[in-house]
Amino acid sequence: MEKLTVSDARCAEAIGSEVLVRGWVRTRRDSKAGFSFLEINDGSCQGNLQVVADAALANYESEVKRLTAGCSVVIEGVLRASPGKGQATELAARSVAVCGWADTETYPLQKKQHSFEFLRTIAHLRPRTNTFGAVARVRNCVCRSIHEFFQEEGFLYVHTPIITASDCEGAGAMFRVTTLDPSAPPPPPVPSPGTAPQGSPFPPLFEQDFFNRPTFLTVSGQLEAETFACSLGKCYTFGPTFRAENSNTTRHLAEFWMVEPEMAFFDLADNMDLAERFLKRIFGDVLARSAEDMEFFRQRIDPTAVDTLRHVLESRFVRVSYTEAVAVLRASGQAFEFPVEWGRDLQAEHERYLTETHFRSPVILYDYPRTIKPFYMRLNDDGRTVRAMDVLVPKVGEIIGGSQREERLDVLDGRMREQGLDPQGYWWYRDLRRYGTVPHAGFGLGVERVLLFITGMANIRDVIPFPRAPGSAEF
Ligand code: 4AD
Ligand code: MG
Repeated sequence: MEKLTVSDARCAEAIGSEVLVRGWVRTRRDSKAGFSFLEINDGSCQGNLQVVADAALANYESEVKRLTAGCSVVIEGVLRASPGKGQATELAARSVAVCGWADTETYPLQKKQHSFEFLRTIAHLRPRTNTFGAVARVRNCVCRSIHEFFQEEGFLYVHTPIITASDCEGAGAMFRVTTLDPSAPPPPPVPSPGTAPQGSPFPPLFEQDFFNRPTFLTVSGQLEAETFACSLGKCYTFGPTFRAENSNTTRHLAEFWMVEPEMAFFDLADNMDLAERFLKRIFGDVLARSAEDMEFFRQRIDPTAVDTLRHVLESRFVRVSYTEAVAVLRASGQAFEFPVEWGRDLQAEHERYLTETHFRSPVILYDYPRTIKPFYMRLNDDGRTVRAMDVLVPKVGEIIGGSQREERLDVLDGRMREQGLDPQGYWWYRDLRRYGTVPHAGFGLGVERVLLFITGMANIRDVIPFPRAPGSAEF
């Protein structure tokens, strides 16, 4: 007997075969004609498998008729064509074995509809709902495309560290990593007789910390990825990143996943071309491979979900300088909450106006003022702007941030000092510019931001399995 997933058991080709299917009961309906319908889901697809359990089953009264949402079952039987609507097949059960019961008094997923706010409080059970199953599958589809795209393009996958001593974005929004107990600070170290002071650049307290220096969770793997790009050509890093900014918004997480390609001998135009091809590959794959889940999002979450992806696939991303974008925004006559002035960072409302209303397509903004972008971005000849690029999409705003990197040591040092950073602390990063420096570029795509865009989900906390945000890390 073949063990089938619900997804495979729903295919007409399987009709006539004897199969074993395992999963969780979504609903049970009892017919007066002496049998029950069970809807079974195992997460392999959006649809359920309809099981027909006859009253002649030995455990029909004692068990089958007590099955409720959330119970787990193993069912053997024969697949046949379903006379009902909405499914090609149904499983005529020969046996229904109950693995685990789910107490109707306490199991929280009884009601059909729950608010996303409530489901966040039961993040350990929400993957059992249609929406979170679909999000999980689409997330997997996106991650698969990310790896496939870069592997096919000859990129090397590198693992950059999670614990780091350097602040990539220079914004200071980092989580500290320490083994010191804040409620019991250690006594000051006693120097051993005859030993010379070490001359550590850090306060004495750090001598007793695990790494003998201040360390943090990384905000980005870029700086380390650059070391590999400047040795091996094209590479990408893909992992969790952490930001301790107190942003309680629907677009910010304290822990999120970012994929960061970094390429030697790439300039900003090459970087933009790659970003556009990369996003289109992801969107194309989602439409082709996650059609059922995308149809669910279209029907239940955002009626424009599928059309938006198709439209983006067909359009060429508009490329506009920051300076031009400011002019567009100022001429728009829109009443924005935040003022638009050259030299200020753009807010989500500005980004959305540009991509949703003005250009009606994804927009790549480039050449931002030096004062609002990190030290590593290459300074333009005008001395005022840097070779930055942000990719903006409708509904979400920024999903990619990147740049051509500053490869000139003297300019880099100047930019660090200007931003209050000590070039000595970045000695290894500076070495890339001292020995065989090359023009290079890269970007970071926030996986949760791209999922918001694809699915139309409104809150970023609903596209990551276990969201971390200020005041929230239960699971
Ligand atoms: O623009 P960001 O800060 O760029 C970097 O970190 C660069 N070092 C990347 C690089 O060039 N290798 O972040 C990149 C992307 C953003 O465009 C956004 O999609 C996402 O990461 N992002 C966040 N996603 C969720 N929550 C947050 N708090 C995020 N901050 C950034
Ligand atoms: Mg950014």
